[in-house]
Amino acid sequence: MNNNKFLVTSAFPYSNGPIHLGHILENIQADIWVRYKKMNKENIYFICSDDSHGTPIMLKSKKLKINTLYYIKKMYFNHKNNFKKFSIDHDNYYLTHSSENKRVISNIFNILKNKNLIIEKKINQLFDDNNKIFLPDRFIIGSCPKCLTKNQYGDLCEYCGYKYNCIDLINPKSIISNSNLIIKETNHLFFNLPVFKNNLIFWINSINLQKSVLNKIHNCIDLGLNMWDISRDYPYFGFKIPNYNNKFFYVWIDALVGYISTFNNLYKFNNNIIENYWSINSNSKIYQFIGKDIIYFHLLLWPSILEGINFKKPDKIIVHGHLKINGNKMSKSNNNFISVEKYLEYLDSDLLRYYFSSKLSNNIEDINFDITNFVNKINSDIINKILNLASRNFKILETNFNSVLSNKIDDNIYNYFISKSNIIFNLYEKFEFNKIINNIIKLSNLANKYISDNKPWDFIINKKKKSHIICSTGLNLFKIIITYLKPIIPKISSYSEELLGIKLNLYNLDKPIKSFHRINKFILKFKKININYVNKIFN
Ligand code: 2FM
Ligand code: ZN
Repeated sequence: MNNNKFLVTSAFPYSNGPIHLGHILENIQADIWVRYKKMNKENIYFICSDDSHGTPIMLKSKKLKINTLYYIKKMYFNHKNNFKKFSIDHDNYYLTHSSENKRVISNIFNILKNKNLIIEKKINQLFDDNNKIFLPDRFIIGSCPKCLTKNQYGDLCEYCGYKYNCIDLINPKSIISNSNLIIKETNHLFFNLPVFKNNLIFWINSINLQKSVLNKIHNCIDLGLNMWDISRDYPYFGFKIPNYNNKFFYVWIDALVGYISTFNNLYKFNNNIIENYWSINSNSKIYQFIGKDIIYFHLLLWPSILEGINFKKPDKIIVHGHLKINGNKMSKSNNNFISVEKYLEYLDSDLLRYYFSSKLSNNIEDINFDITNFVNKINSDIINKILNLASRNFKILETNFNSVLSNKIDDNIYNYFISKSNIIFNLYEKFEFNKIINNIIKLSNLANKYISDNKPWDFIINKKKKSHIICSTGLNLFKIIITYLKPIIPKISSYSEELLGIKLNLYNLDKPIKSFHRINKFILKFKKININYVNKIFN
């Protein structure tokens, strides 16, 4: 145990869609790390929020004919609940449309403005004159200004790869109303990012970033940093910028600043606590888990805002790859979109927590949820190896020893299992969860081999005492394995705790279960899964 204080965050899901397996991947990664730290009795908080603002959310609620405020509240409760059902243990799950966030944003804006870090500039943007709204790039379609290919979305031509400014599109149209768009001049507020260049270079080199992430950011800085547009025009769902008519903060500002206000909400603005975590001299650690699609916001904009207000910058940004389903990008159009609710209709959350862990490590490669591989892995590892170790020993103890453990165990194999603890905890520290699973499987194989080789069922007839020792050793090995896995599979762990009749934690890890301890009746709760059944999550 050490005295570090940690604040851990995962990226905020937008309000206008369900929580899906992509969100779950990231939150599982963070949650496992936090659970491991909590198990080690470290001082750690884990927060997240709904990202409630922006044009897409406003338009979606309009389309559904639901009041936007009502809509984001409803989604907030739904999201919060979905995370809970996956055993994602946020200490606070909040939303960016909050009084705390409004207050923090205004304060930050005023500080930046007083330091002349906010600049006003006129820009041209595409405007839907029928609906009187400036549209974000993703709602605009037109022909590529370079190769003239029709129906190109956003700011990138899918056909020739040309990246353009939307105002250069030929015949730009709104994808919502299909009306033609006109170019209109508007005044926007920009954050002066380029002045932070040297600070940024120093910081990104100091936080032990994953290599590929570091390279990407260096490349981006080398290409030249631009002023960052932080304002949006009415109509917009967000916070108004103080002292500016009809100007709103861009949703990404609310989201980033939301990391501070979500924590404030937990502490009801206890200034000491805030000071302890965010002040420039604080020795607390801020760890942020994000996907590789949002690194520029977190490694350029966010640290510069923090620098600008003289707050502490994150100590670590852990970036993961995208989730793929059966080798393809997860999307409704690929027919492979899986919401949390759909998944949970058919399967237990721990199974996916285990599967994702077997794929998660400290790199940014995409993670493939391959259904056949998933079914095989769960059946082979969890059912045939780990839980089988429990069931075979429970049964012998129940039938022959009145469910009471012996007063002696086999120290050799027991001590060998305990000796792996340093390696395993070190792997937790380094986010190398896939290697933890590899180690666990080796241990499970060894434990099962120990039982098979020693055949306690044979001894029951001749040397009952020996058989008693072997099964009791087997259950102790099971106890160690589940303790190692506790942050990964919390439900299977508490099920095992109920069966064993003891709590599993790091403090009793190296203590064998007490002599003559009585275990409970074995109840089969997790069974083999079948591919046809699992495929129903796609219906
Ligand atoms: O990309 C997204 O889904 C954003 N809603 C993430 C925001 S992360 C943070 F800044 F809150
Ligand atoms: Zn093109």
